[in-house]
Amino acid sequence: MEKLNFGVIGLGIIGLKHLNYLKEISSANIYAVCSRVKEKIDETAKLYKCKPYYSYQELLNDKNIDAVIITTPHDSHAEICIEAFKKNKHVLCEKPLAVDVFDAEKIIDKYNECLKNNSELKFSIVFQQRTFGCWKKIKEILNDNLLGKLIRATWIITNKFRTQYYFNSANWRAKWSTEGGGVLLNQVSHELDIYQWLLGMPDKIRAFCSFGKYHEIEVEDEVTIYFTYKNDLIGHFIASTGEAPGTNRLEITGENGKLVYEHDKINLSKNKIKVFKNKISSLNFIKDSKEMFGKPEYEIIDIQFPLDNNDHKAVIENFTNAVLNKEKLYIDGRDGINSLYLSNGAVLSQLENETIDIPFKSSRYRSWLNKLKKA
Ligand SMILES: NC(=O)c1ccc[n+]([C@@H]2O[C@H](COP(=O)([O-])OP(=O)(O)OC[C@H]3O[C@@H](n4cnc5c(N)ncnc54)[C@H](O)[C@@H]3O)[C@@H](O)[C@H]2O)c1
Repeated sequence: MEKLNFGVIGLGIIGLKHLNYLKEISSANIYAVCSRVKEKIDETAKLYKCKPYYSYQELLNDKNIDAVIITTPHDSHAEICIEAFKKNKHVLCEKPLAVDVFDAEKIIDKYNECLKNNSELKFSIVFQQRTFGCWKKIKEILNDNLLGKLIRATWIITNKFRTQYYFNSANWRAKWSTEGGGVLLNQVSHELDIYQWLLGMPDKIRAFCSFGKYHEIEVEDEVTIYFTYKNDLIGHFIASTGEAPGTNRLEITGENGKLVYEHDKINLSKNKIKVFKNKISSLNFIKDSKEMFGKPEYEIIDIQFPLDNNDHKAVIENFTNAVLNKEKLYIDGRDGINSLYLSNGAVLSQLENETIDIPFKSSRYRSWLNKLKKA
């Protein structure tokens, strides 16, 4: 059986996890590893019986490597992705795609350029939550138009509690110059991706972000975002790393009722999607009813879905099959720019005290980021 030769760049918390998953995928071969710490590189290369590289450039020059997984800190994703495409390597990049839209545009431009010479070149990003049964089911419910015209979508995602010890665990974390953002860019970047995957991109963003409110960090650790859409839908996205126990609750309301989902990462069997289904459209009821305080009647439907939180392995397996067998990619790497528009846009809104139109010019946020890095 043909195997895909992988190089894994970055051997930290998530890079080591990827190696474990790769080991379980029969069509994947761990060919080389690389990071910044020689002892770690040697130890890992020995463990996986693969080639050690001491710089990602050397690894990318190895013609036997077909594909790379990039698991370095976010601010290096752009540089490494671009160099990998130049060397005609398939790329699976960890989330977020980059620190800002400016860098994401550069990655996408390079990928699109390289695609012209190699139409089979694959690019994906590890937004593994897109493979979760719950989000796939909610997407199906929205696609089937069960809720009718959408009115409001509110996601409270405050169960990403982090300690100071976590932020101190690596010196790139939670600094503008090295991480380039906080809770939006890191801890809830999956949920921002799912939010736009389910509901599309908003037209405007107004946000309030607190920087270092609960932790001794430079970046945002509490955020409230208000989204508006061209089709009148409004959205809220509330995120924090300073709340415990916190909440992960998504509520989507349409004229035909509301969908409520609370996500418990540990007790998966407790996770229920409930749809409160109106017997008559609320928008029609507003217009047609002759009652002062009447409301549409509704029924409660428990929606079943597979409790298959596949984690990273499903994404790596799909990426491998996309290269080897032309399987459709679950996630096009270029989608990674969307959650960056949301996270950068929210911080921009706080910094400029303005409502921000989406899309905005990438240089607008980049110049703020440069100032924050120097401060
Ligand atoms: N998809 C997910 O659920 C998920 C989960 C955790 C982390 N991540 C992402 O993975 C990335 C890494 O996070 P982490 O927690 O593993 O970080 P980490 O600090 O534990 O590891 C980073 C690794 O990258 C290496 N590195 C740094 N710069 C390098 C360079 N220029 N060349 C080669 N190696 C380099 C370091 O030596 C280290 O081995 C981040 O972007 C993070 O957002 C994704």
